[in-house]
Amino acid sequence: MMGQERSLSPSTIGELKEIAARYPEARSGLLPMLHLIQSVEGNVTNEGIEICAEILGISAAEVSGVATFYTMYKRRPMGEHHVGVCTNTLCAVMGGDLIFERLKGHLDVGNDETTEDGKVTLEHIECNAACDFAPVMMVNWEFFDNQTPDSAVELVDKLRAGETVQATRGATITSWREAERVLAGFEDGLVDEGPAAAGPSLAGLEIAAERGWTAPSVDEAKVSTGSTGGADATADTKTGAAEQADTSRAESETKLEESPADTAKEGEDD
Ligand code: FES
Repeated sequence: MMGQERSLSPSTIGELKEIAARYPEARSGLLPMLHLIQSVEGNVTNEGIEICAEILGISAAEVSGVATFYTMYKRRPMGEHHVGVCTNTLCAVMGGDLIFERLKGHLDVGNDETTEDGKVTLEHIECNAACDFAPVMMVNWEFFDNQTPDSAVELVDKLRAGETVQATRGATITSWREAERVLAGFEDGLVDEGPAAAGPSLAGLEIAAERGWTAPSVDEAKVSTGSTGGADATADTKTGAAEQADTSRAESETKLEESPADTAKEGEDD
């Protein structure tokens, strides 16, 4: 890029260097650097890749390998909002597949495509670790829980109309680019909006509190197969557990070595 005109501003390049300087190994900053490129450019551009490579002292091919491996990095321009519909197993059976089909028709786009007005990019996404609120959607990586096809349509219509939308367990929705800047490590001041945890996520904790259950401390932890399960596999300490694990592995390796196939092979070798 030396001598070529750049579209990335000196202040963005300064922020990219600032991210790289946060890490003992500068290349560890590549992931947030790519998020910053997306927040400025709307996707990971060739120029962005080359500048990251230049700052980190690695090849453009190495940066490109990362940018094309992770699905959160986009090589095509994105809409103002990224709308993700979880279609992994639990959400799918709870209605995620129906939501995704309904939105494709309503927005007249396919997967990973942007509406004509540039407002929404629709994508089916994998499990968001929010299965207790299935089916879930995400807008700019903020959760929208317990969705239905109708609520999903209402949500995207509000986004397209520029109305204020509040995530179920997160901040007021801004834009995909602004969310990308947060992922790059530059706070937007909205971190305390919305509950940190709620509803079904806390059910187990509440039941445990009611019944006085507590988790054993690390030193007290026991691993046991119980009285009717055959061998007593109790390990009193982490070291003991590790020794047992090693013993099991050694036993299985011994069995492998003594397998009929090996014996036959030994016979042939003789
Ligand atoms: S399957 Fe959708 S959040 Fe886990």
